[in-house]
Amino acid sequence: MKLKIKNLDYQEVEQVEELLKGLFPNRWSKGQILSTNPYRIKKSVYLGDTLVGFFEGEVILDEGAVLMLAVKKEFQGKGIGKSILNWFISYCKKQGVKNVWLEVSAENQKAIQLYSNLGFIEKGRRKKYYTDGSDAVVMGLQL
Ligand SMILES: CC(C)(COP(=O)(O)OP(=O)(O)OC[C@H]1O[C@@H](n2cnc3c(N)ncnc32)[C@H](O)[C@@H]1OP(=O)(O)O)[C@@H](O)C(=O)NCCC(=O)NCCS
Repeated sequence: MKLKIKNLDYQEVEQVEELLKGLFPNRWSKGQILSTNPYRIKKSVYLGDTLVGFFEGEVILDEGAVLMLAVKKEFQGKGIGKSILNWFISYCKKQGVKNVWLEVSAENQKAIQLYSNLGFIEKGRRKKYYTDGSDAVVMGLQL
């Protein structure tokens, strides 16, 4: 089945909220999921008729950022996260972005592995950044 990455629709907010609830201790509110600005990119990701992922990023001039990447638990480990990121990286290239940035918990080895495989490199750490006390690893990808 083909993966479809589309603009987030207002009607999808509850499904996205449900998806995030299962993945993050401090889930995003509906307001956070919907809050936007001219630089924000919000995508819902479907496999057939099933919403399997959510992505939020930002492109400001020649800088890109990954703000949220989430794949529904039952659909993890099937290459969906990698496909979403590859989509965003090629979108950034088309926009003339030079660097893509993200922050990830130092405890989240799965995500760090995914980002490293795609060429992201650790650029720094923010100590005890997250509410669970874990450090944030700042990673960057030069395009
Ligand atoms: C992190 C996340 C987005 C990855 O999405 P995914 O669809 O499960 O990942 P993929 O199947 O595309 O796997 C991509 C890479 O991740 C790594 N990976 C996947 N499962 C892994 C595991 N159990 N252990 C270690 N690394 C793993 C591998 O490097 C894999 O690459 P490979 O298949 O070439 O070996 C997903 O697990 C998720 O939503 N997690 C909860 C939310 C989160 O932590 N988001 C990221 C921080 S903002």
